Amino acid sequence: MFLDDSRWESYAKNFPRSKRRAKFIAFEGIDGSGKSTIINKVANELKQSGYSVLVNQEPGTTPMGNKLRKLLKTDIPRAKRTELFIQEACRVDIIETRIIPNLYNYDFILNDRYTDSTIAYQGAGNGNDLGLINELNILATREIKPDLTFFIDTDLQLANKRSKKQGNIDEFDRVSNFAKRVYNQYQHLANSKSIVKIPNNNSVDYATKLVMSYLQSL
Ligand code: TYD
Repeated sequence: MFLDDSRWESYAKNFPRSKRRAKFIAFEGIDGSGKSTIINKVANELKQSGYSVLVNQEPGTTPMGNKLRKLLKTDIPRAKRTELFIQEACRVDIIETRIIPNLYNYDFILNDRYTDSTIAYQGAGNGNDLGLINELNILATREIKPDLTFFIDTDLQLANKRSKKQGNIDEFDRVSNFAKRVYNQYQHLANSKSIVKIPNNNSVDYATKLVMSYLQSL
């Protein structure tokens, strides 16, 4: 459709000023990778630069998600598939009540964990079928994909030490087979998908700078 300038101006006036959709960023990593610390720092830096930022933590964040997170952290016996569906239910609550309604209200939406966590933990870790997980991820997210996923890549032994609050050195050095499977799955995902690996073995400030440089180029 072609309009001359004057007609185009009056035509454009009838439209609301279009807002930009938030950049949706996911952060992944094993327990003790320093992921949450980096997200906090990144969120603060973005806010200081004048951007509005919404942070979600999976599982959790919503009233229902927080209840389910507490349940997941207990040792109540459950089938592996039950845990998978609870993780997905937490994700649904975040998608429906935090992400979709806010897609045009923020500059950045930062997710502390997203669909790749389920592939790594419930898939490689707990042995649920990866095809089923992919299907559930699609249903739970309504196919909302991150603009960028960061994998905070920390050496497994180091992450294990960081995440253990107490214990002796022998215990520190024993990395469970479960953790190894999760870690290897993340490495596999990071090598095969468009995930940005952020090394975080030494300096959390350097890792934060690296993340910021990617975000600034979006
Ligand atoms: P996180 O909040 O990163 O750890 P922390 O409790 O130390 O703050 O993640 C919570 C746990 O939930 C973590 O062990 C990974 C697990 N998890 C899954 O197993 N599957 C999932 O889909 C998600 C999102 C998390």
